Amino acid sequence: MRLRTLCLVALVTGAADSSRGPEPRPLIIGHRGASGYRPEHTIESYRLAIEQGADVIEPDLVMTRDRVLVARHENEIGQTTDVATRFPERKRTRIIDGESVTGWFAEDFTLAEIKTLRARERLPSRSHAFDGRFEVPTFDEILSFVRAEERRLGRRIGVYPETKHPSHHESLDLPITDSLLAALERFGYREREDPVFIQSFETANLRRIRPRTRLRLVQLIEDKGRPADFSASNDARTYRDLLTADGLREVATWADGIGPFKGLVQPIGEDGELLPPTSLVADAHRAGLFVHVWTLRADRSFLPAGYRGDAGAEVRRMAELGVDGFFTDFPDLAVAALGR
Ligand code: G3P
Ligand code: CA
Repeated sequence: MRLRTLCLVALVTGAADSSRGPEPRPLIIGHRGASGYRPEHTIESYRLAIEQGADVIEPDLVMTRDRVLVARHENEIGQTTDVATRFPERKRTRIIDGESVTGWFAEDFTLAEIKTLRARERLPSRSHAFDGRFEVPTFDEILSFVRAEERRLGRRIGVYPETKHPSHHESLDLPITDSLLAALERFGYREREDPVFIQSFETANLRRIRPRTRLRLVQLIEDKGRPADFSASNDARTYRDLLTADGLREVATWADGIGPFKGLVQPIGEDGELLPPTSLVADAHRAGLFVHVWTLRADRSFLPAGYRGDAGAEVRRMAELGVDGFFTDFPDLAVAALGR
């Protein structure tokens, strides 16, 4: 689809003013960097995402025992690092959001120990050519890197941090959300127009910081289940309850946008074919919320059969449906599909 057509699509979807930022639409968010090509959440993964034309990079954040924010998708770091071979004796079982998890946990290690580890690719089906080469970066290192890349390239590069398991971290006296805000403040991110989106699958942390920051907040939405803080507080509401007209209006009291699973916008049948789209994009825009869906992946095992092996077709479909942005492991394919 040509750029002019895409602009028209954006116009006719009638997004509310608050859904529009200064960034391109749809926004291309490098999911864990360019994680289709490099071990996720490494500086090299973020570097490649920027090189490929991502507008934004996405660090997921956990916290070390000495209270440093580092980029990992889970606090269990056994799947994405060589911790099992370097610290075999540190394996343990923890209860995370009510579930028993066995492995190695970032919160049991100091930053100095984490820095001895090397990242590895999570998925067996992807290249392992870069395993053992890259460090686990701190959030400060990521922000320094982004600022340096902005100077080098002469363009803004957004940052889309997600605090992982905030209730769990805070139960261990690890102030993950406060540290995130403090780091952003130190690097000069303060205003709504700044290229930052703070995201969470929980609600309580976002609600708590709403009065404390003008930066944009994003409520992540799973296709099933409920936010961990709802479960912990015996709130029976589910993610689906947050997507009703009343639910979206309530979300808009603490968030600027939603980050739903992509199937909540474009459902896929059991045979992999596309079903009729939902009204979620229009519903969210009506509530003044932008919509950033996750996660677009080109791997044969992830791309729904209905796109006939063409990852660009999924990108164009999401643009046609009026989403304001999407997370993708393959920013280069998104850039090509949008004709940028
Ligand atoms: O954060 C949005 C997107 O990244 C989906 O979540 O599980 O990959 O962190 P996850
Ligand atoms: Ca994430």
